[in-house]
Amino acid sequence: MVGKIKGTGSYRPVQVWDNDKLSHMMDTSDEWIRGRTGIGQRHIASGGETVAYMAARAAEEALSDARMRPEEIDLLLVSTMSSERIMPCAACEVQKLIGAVNAACFDLNGACTGFLLALNTAQAYLGQQIYRRALVIGSETLSHLTNWEDRSTCVLFGDGAGAVVLEAEENAVYIQAAHSIGSRGEALTCVSRNQQQFIEKDADLSSTYMQMDGKEVFKFAVSKVPEVITEVLEKAGKTKEEIRFYMLHQANKRIVASVSKHMNEPLEKYPMNIENLGNTSSASIPLLLDEWNKKGRLNSGDWIILSGFGGGLTYGASLLQW
Ligand code: ACO
Repeated sequence: MVGKIKGTGSYRPVQVWDNDKLSHMMDTSDEWIRGRTGIGQRHIASGGETVAYMAARAAEEALSDARMRPEEIDLLLVSTMSSERIMPCAACEVQKLIGAVNAACFDLNGACTGFLLALNTAQAYLGQQIYRRALVIGSETLSHLTNWEDRSTCVLFGDGAGAVVLEAEENAVYIQAAHSIGSRGEALTCVSRNQQQFIEKDADLSSTYMQMDGKEVFKFAVSKVPEVITEVLEKAGKTKEEIRFYMLHQANKRIVASVSKHMNEPLEKYPMNIENLGNTSSASIPLLLDEWNKKGRLNSGDWIILSGFGGGLTYGASLLQW
């Protein structure tokens, strides 16, 4: 048994900040941000737009797309590194908000690879026939973890949520590879505020915001993403030409372009929405999948590769058939 995607959904916060707005807040420009990253604007959560609220809205859309009722879900996973509450977990809050009363619920944190790792986890449960239907959600309020005085990172990130509904089927296909390189983890860090405020009383609070060695992350992504995609293609016995779309974590337009070049596959096969959403970490892949689904760009039978990479360092790729 393998989980097949039966529906997708997403949520974008109401408030939108374009690059011009940021250029009034700090010494930056639309030209610099677009040129280096491909980002033109990002959505910023406000009011009650928490990780759990956005995840619930995305989940409701995915359930409606799948024509399923919340009570039919057996497993509900939320991938996030920015949940406002440690307990209850965001997945339990989503359960309450949407009425998925029969689901086992928990959160995962695999940074920007988190959605793929959550998908792998759901597939393991479905493959063992422990559960039949799963909701897998990526939801992030990265604007809360962003140091708005650090122009080298704050221009990159945005908030949002994406969700998929999976149902176990006999003939579905899902082939994955996932890896971690903990020894290079210092390239992307964010320290817990509890740790800094209550344990190290005089600590520097700047480390409680996302910090990044941009060049190191860039090098990591452009070498490891083609490698793990090739690993999945080999495992599946597929050629790269058979793949309709490569949906990559939306960290940077130049990373996507570089992977396309490394793979010697046209950029048109690499959908992007980073211009409108920025980097939404573990929400980026389901947001992209939902956008392409809603635009009617995905046909039954299409082979799709999803690939995530990020803090940890973690990375992975998954092949599925639409
Ligand atoms: N506006 C204007 N100038 C800026 C800004 C800004 N927002 N940020 C930095 N600069 C300046 C720097 O101060 C520096 O100026 P200097 O030459 O006078 O010292 C200059 O621009 C170059 O700065 P670099 O940090 O060297 O810029 P770089 O070319 O490396 O681009 C970037 C930075 C876009 C982050 C790049 O390293 C990158 O693409 N990294 C990939 C990592 C990534 O995308 N991470 C996203 C999050 S992680 C993830 O999702 C996996």
